[in-house]
Amino acid sequence: MGELIAGAWDLGWPIMVMLVGLLVYFQATIKDPVTKKRATFQTAIGILCMFLVLIAVSNYTANFNAATGMLPVSLVMITAMAFIMGLYFPNISALMKIGGFMFFVASALSGYGNWLPQVEGGFPPPVVKLDFQSMSAQQLGDEGEKLIFGGIGQSKTQGAIGKGQCPLCHGFQKGFLSERAPNLFGIPARAAEQLKAPTYHMNDAASRTTEQKESFEGSGTAIDAQEYIAESHACPSCFVVPGFGVKGSNDTVSPMPRIHKPPISLQLGELAAVDTWMYTREGVESPGYDAIVTSYEKFIPEADRPKASEGDEEGGAGGDILADGSEPHDTLFAKAGCTACHTIPGIKDATGKVGPELWEGTNAPKRIKDGGYAGKAKTTKEYITESILDPSAYVVTDYPDDQMPKDFGVKLTGGALSKIVDYLASLEEGKPLPPKE
Ligand code: HEC
Ligand code: HEC
Repeated sequence: MGELIAGAWDLGWPIMVMLVGLLVYFQATIKDPVTKKRATFQTAIGILCMFLVLIAVSNYTANFNAATGMLPVSLVMITAMAFIMGLYFPNISALMKIGGFMFFVASALSGYGNWLPQVEGGFPPPVVKLDFQSMSAQQLGDEGEKLIFGGIGQSKTQGAIGKGQCPLCHGFQKGFLSERAPNLFGIPARAAEQLKAPTYHMNDAASRTTEQKESFEGSGTAIDAQEYIAESHACPSCFVVPGFGVKGSNDTVSPMPRIHKPPISLQLGELAAVDTWMYTREGVESPGYDAIVTSYEKFIPEADRPKASEGDEEGGAGGDILADGSEPHDTLFAKAGCTACHTIPGIKDATGKVGPELWEGTNAPKRIKDGGYAGKAKTTKEYITESILDPSAYVVTDYPDDQMPKDFGVKLTGGALSKIVDYLASLEEGKPLPPKE
């Protein structure tokens, strides 16, 4: 409603100012009390009607494309306006009453049509369903680049990130230092090599030393390069690249999230797009859509495959801002990417193991008291904010520096940041979890 009034004001403030001016003018100049009262009253009614029309127009423009059933409201307002004018302005009364009646009929009809629950009003924006299967390798690769980096041509932009969230951990450019996770340049060729590593145990999952030996019971191991890539996404812990396991797990558990599971939830078609990009951008021929999808079917059982309708309207985080704070807590943390690395009590799917579990109501006061603490924070909220905006100000003992991305300051709005900080600050070990949306 506030937006509508603001919109109406934007449209017609000069007219409104003129009408109010007229009102003041009548007050000052008309002497005869009866005439004065009448003029004042009619101008006031004029102002009211004008505003109704402006709100109606503003509502009409704002909701024209939305299927909210709000359009009839405009018609009702114009009808009301016409009746009021007809009542108080005898000269134009007949005209207004006829106009008002026609509008009344129109709004009744359209209202009836629009407010019926099964009938959608307005013109819903077209839904673009991506048909990965029928795309050329080039198009499929472009979609993959969007999923990884948020946009075509973004792969060389520092900090660009899409729905797949891979750049949170992986470097992609040749020679680019990638400490959190293997640099994925050269993966098509390396994939075939990894199969031969003594720790991979091709065709002999039972001998694996990893905590999880197979993606699901009976799925077996990968036997070619594409299957290796598929297994890496569907079951990162089936084989852990030496040196990259969860801290203290001795490379038996991978910190990488299962990419087909929430919150990332890529569908098989999207995974095929991501892989296609990793091949084609190096000039390596891709095995093709069908072969890639088949490789995923080996490691992801039917029931675990995300449906095409789940979350595909987002189509990659896109843009620069990851979250703006209007999201409910679960979505907020997932979109900001914290869940890939942190376990956050009370937050759905926040099971990351790269960084500490975020009991900040308990942790923050301890960190500030720590002798090695060199940051500027005095309070829990200041400490959390500092940890997000300037992760190197203090590096939690036993965790490496340079793991947590340093650009959240430009990727989260102030609203998102304060909502994150408030939630984390109220997490205290042994206390009930704070409320969330
Ligand atoms: C939270 C951090 C994280 C995210 C997010 C992540 N990965 Fe990983 N990934 C890792 C780590 C760590 C490893 C090495 C340990 C292992 O083998 O699982 C790895 C391993 C891999 C491997 C095997 C690499 C090799 O050299 O054998 C591939 C392929 C891969 N990731 C692809 C991806 C893709 C594609 C995405 C995005 C859709 C992604 N990862 C998202 C952390 C991550
Ligand atoms: C790529 C992995 C990664 C991502 C993504 C990430 N973090 Fe971290 N975070 C870490 C690591 C590792 C540490 C510990 C080292 C350090 O202090 O920098 C850490 C430390 C922290 C700390 C200090 C914890 C303590 O108990 O002192 C906070 C708070 C924090 N992260 C919040 C966040 C939030 C909020 C997000 C999302 C906006 C996020 N992190 C995203 C890896 C990550």
